[in-house]
Amino acid sequence: MTFASVVPHHIAIVMDGNGRWASKRFLPRLVGHKKGVDSLRRCAKACESRGVGVLTVFAFSSENWNRPAEEVSGLMNLFAVALGREVPELNADGVRLCFVGERANLSKKVIEGIEQAESATAGNSRLILNVCFNYGGRWDIVQAVAKLADLGQPATEQNLNNAMALAHVPDPDLVIRTGGEQRISNFLLWQSAYSEFFFSDHLWPDFDETALDQAITAFSQRERRFGKTSDQLVAQANNPPLV
Ligand code: IPE
Ligand code: IPE
Ligand code: MG
Repeated sequence: MTFASVVPHHIAIVMDGNGRWASKRFLPRLVGHKKGVDSLRRCAKACESRGVGVLTVFAFSSENWNRPAEEVSGLMNLFAVALGREVPELNADGVRLCFVGERANLSKKVIEGIEQAESATAGNSRLILNVCFNYGGRWDIVQAVAKLADLGQPATEQNLNNAMALAHVPDPDLVIRTGGEQRISNFLLWQSAYSEFFFSDHLWPDFDETALDQAITAFSQRERRFGKTSDQLVAQANNPPLV
């Protein structure tokens, strides 16, 4: 069997379990979300030190608007505050921040924070951190189709790919979901066509370097066949194409 290259270039994460982390401690759910920001900072640093090139995280889904108004406004506020607080350190660490999702129904404060964070970090290249906020995989496909219609382009796989919100990065190699659920919840529907999946029982605030390394180790033991047979991959590894 031929194994995937050891460290995935692009890791995507459904950061799930903040609410349960807080409830287990009889704390308000928002405390779990705050801990979730700490966990993301730690995870981004760990990805950088392991040579991961792109980290894409799911922070707020199109469907999360359906939560109680108090939680939604708490999350919006936390997001705006975290943006202001985290950007200097991320910038110093060479992280380029990109925000992916529908901006139209976000507050002016949040949109300004997003734009400032993107422009402040635009020149960085050590790690691309895509934060999917007010994002849904279905939204992404629909906005890409609308873009093609506007441009008068035919609906080919390549054109659609170029119109998707994550066109600036290759597809994720590894998709991790924390929190014990085994579903995609409208995350990267188009882009995860050939991703490897890893489901972790850790609640997101508890997802540390060791848990990340478990996911990377599992990934390194997968055989990514992309529709081919195992024998074909072995033959290919033994006779790499001359460049
Ligand atoms: C994920 O944690 C963060 C967001 C969806 C914003 P949850 O808030 O879904 O946590 P659980 O699943 O209720 O524990
Ligand atoms: C997915 O988690 C969205 C984010 C992590 C931002 P949810 O907690 O919203 O997913 P469901 O509702 O359990 O499927
Ligand atoms: Mg959840």
